[in-house]
Amino acid sequence: PRTVDRDEEGRLTVGGVDVVTLAAEHGTAAYVLDEDDFRSRAADFRDSFAAAFGPLAGADVYYAAKAFLCTAVARWVAEEGLHLDVCTGGELAVAQRVHFPAERIGFHGNNKTVAEIRQALAYGVGRIVVDSLQEIDRIAAVAAELGVVAPVMVRVTVGVEAHTHEFIATGHEDQKFGFSLAGGHALEAARRILERPDVLALRGLHSHIGSQIFDTGGFETAAHRLVGLHARLADEHGHHCPEIDLGGGYGIAYTSQHTPLPTATLAQEMAAIVGRELAAVGDATRMPRVSIEPGRAIVGPSTFTLYEVGTVKDVELGGGHARTYVSVDGGMSDNARPALYEADYSCTLASRRSQAGPRLSRVVGRHCESGDIVVLDEYLPADLEPGDLIAVPGTGAYCRSLSSQYNHTPRPPVVAVRGGRSRVLVRRETIDDLLALDVADA
Ligand code: LLP
Repeated sequence: PRTVDRDEEGRLTVGGVDVVTLAAEHGTAAYVLDEDDFRSRAADFRDSFAAAFGPLAGADVYYAAKAFLCTAVARWVAEEGLHLDVCTGGELAVAQRVHFPAERIGFHGNNKTVAEIRQALAYGVGRIVVDSLQEIDRIAAVAAELGVVAPVMVRVTVGVEAHTHEFIATGHEDQKFGFSLAGGHALEAARRILERPDVLALRGLHSHIGSQIFDTGGFETAAHRLVGLHARLADEHGHHCPEIDLGGGYGIAYTSQHTPLPTATLAQEMAAIVGRELAAVGDATRMPRVSIEPGRAIVGPSTFTLYEVGTVKDVELGGGHARTYVSVDGGMSDNARPALYEADYSCTLASRRSQAGPRLSRVVGRHCESGDIVVLDEYLPADLEPGDLIAVPGTGAYCRSLSSQYNHTPRPPVVAVRGGRSRVLVRRETIDDLLALDVADA
């Protein structure tokens, strides 16, 4: 449960700390992460999926590090008993730094380097999700070199593409990830792995259909196809994959237009889907465990970005209409999602109460681009003025992790709040950090 509230003076408080204090201590812009919220979402996924999949062979929840990772978060994920999905040597290095249990790590990526494969196998990760035939050979070679058997999963292109709201059930073979099921490549990859039992162990089948999904229909199609391949491998090769992974992608509410399923309901629907598909192919004694990889749904809602208003400007639109442009001390460098995906956010005046009427406003950043939008349309109080603080909720996923230093802008810190205290998880970048990479006498 999230502890965002207003104090007597109308200041937003989170984790027992008000935003005016946060801004004074850490500056703005800043990502403010509610540790209890993160932990309770992680625990909710863990418990809901364990309960729903209990009657089947159980479920594992991999937190998708790409949404946001730092050492503190990796530690929380380990402490909450979740698994971790990484997709680069960099993300794996963060996990290694906190001694994240290796067997609970899954390694993804469509073009892992040999160095990354070596890093993963030397650390002993629980599984590597393979994405090409060349990679199967590379992993086999590194496993032979290290004298280990590499646990691998085959990433399957199940022909389902999920968009923000809808999924389209045909014709999405044309993308870079995975082995095509329709083309028979997934079966070929599995066979290639089964031919090398000295160095490769086929641990399971994987699919990921997309992100910010609100409907389980796409997962149903994916489960149907994965289970079909699973059964075929059992029939034709006598190989029972111990695991099936349905990927991540569970949507969150960025604005009031989105209504995600409660996690317990989601888990029950997913278990019903998988249960039906497995029952249809029989052999209940060798039921695979199921895994999922939520990133956004765990970290997204845990964080808001705190900005300070710098300027407020009215622009005449003609016909008696005007729009108020509110510039804040951040923008597309700390949240690229509006520019990249036309993503919608909401925001609120966070530092005080206002009795002024609402005014249609557009919150924009400080970068030299007109597409540098933070919140496209929001009703903010008409008396908004420089120095006011604005909070944009739901910025925990793919904001810091997709951030840039565009216009030589140092990136904001990530500040955790809990029990009335705040602490820095990732410090604010400085101009010196940026200049440190620049070879001055080149
Ligand atoms: N598993 C795999 C294999 C993935 O590729 C992804 C996300 C996830 C899990 C986690 O998905 P989630 O539960 O967070 O939706 N930058 C985009 C999202 C890209 C997602 C990439 N893969 C955005 O900001 O919306």
